[in-house]
Amino acid sequence: MALTRLSLTDFRNHAQASFRPGRQFTVLHGANGAGKTNILEAVSLLVPGRGLRGASLSEMPRNNGAGGFAIAAEIEDIKLGTGVDATTPERRKVRINGANAPITSLSEWLAVIWLTPAMDRLFTDGAGERRRFLDRLVMALEPSHARFSSQYERAMRQRNKLLGDDRPADPDWLDGLEKAMAQNAILIENSRAAMTAQLMERLAVEPQEPFAIPLLAIDETEKMDEEMLRIHWRRSRARDAAAGRTLTGPHRADLIVTHKAKKQPAALCSTGEQKALLLSAILAHAALVADRRSEPPIILLDEVAAHLDPLRRAALFDRLAKSGSQLWMTGTEKALFEGLNGDVLFLEVSNGQLLQDGPWG
Ligand SMILES: Nc1ncnc2c1ncn2[C@@H]1O[C@H](COP(=O)(O)OP(=O)(O)O)[C@@H](O)[C@H]1O
Ligand SMILES: [Mg+2]
Repeated sequence: MALTRLSLTDFRNHAQASFRPGRQFTVLHGANGAGKTNILEAVSLLVPGRGLRGASLSEMPRNNGAGGFAIAAEIEDIKLGTGVDATTPERRKVRINGANAPITSLSEWLAVIWLTPAMDRLFTDGAGERRRFLDRLVMALEPSHARFSSQYERAMRQRNKLLGDDRPADPDWLDGLEKAMAQNAILIENSRAAMTAQLMERLAVEPQEPFAIPLLAIDETEKMDEEMLRIHWRRSRARDAAAGRTLTGPHRADLIVTHKAKKQPAALCSTGEQKALLLSAILAHAALVADRRSEPPIILLDEVAAHLDPLRRAALFDRLAKSGSQLWMTGTEKALFEGLNGDVLFLEVSNGQLLQDGPWG
């Protein structure tokens, strides 16, 4: 999976940009605030979800632009597009080869994984970000995970709404929603468990150095089958109505990460060690996806090179080059990327403008 072209229109500080990324590496360098992360964010919106900033759609159209934005990408002769129209700015639209498509179908075409400076807080913040990270790994391996998650969330939102109504909720309607939740919950939990098991197997054969090996486990409320889940939610209606939300289910699961060699929870590791654990997981995951889907995912590394010592940086570049993934990397200094070998496009980003330093299409 590799983009052969990326075009942006009125996306954040980019009024108009179009280029052919490197087959292996695209390096975006330039000053703080130039618009480098914005480009990675655009790529991250080519899969289901809210992108690598978790931002709301209303932040994305360029200030002083026409009110909407568009991100268009080509993968050989396949055309993916997403964006919002000025008339319906709250609705993200997706087009695949010119036809409207549900957002969840993007995962069938592309897998994108990222590591950003904001993820420095992944192990110390609440479970939500860790769960989203887990689900991105799962979705990259099992594209249908996006659809099951979306169906689960939709049924749960309707259940929360019904339970929150002043009028007593129709029990048959609640039964139906809880059934849909239970069916999708089982699929979600199975995909998560399968990905985690396969990734652990993969990590066991990956090099221990220079990036520490993580142990991954999913922390979820007591494992239940579909029937038990339905009974559980039926019995929890009063409790959930009082709380104003559904208190149990796969939307509450957490990802537990442990530094294998140190036998220490990731939260207690240094920021550098945490980054190394995440890099190990991402690289092993890329190898896993390459095996199962015949092509590795796209990997976005925002400001990662600057935080590694030269030895680890060289080792990272070496492993990235061997991964077969299309890599997108940012840094304030071009010099950080001197050790990169392979097909590299260097782009200087300056105030929302891209200045080529490599091949253009
Ligand atoms: N909707 C928007 N319209 C115009 N500019 C924006 C929008 N959203 C963010 N920006 C600008 O984009 C810049 C940040 O871009 P970013 O890609 O994070 O920079 P960096 O190159 O440091 O990664 C900031 O100057 C910010 O004001
Ligand atoms: Mg940035």
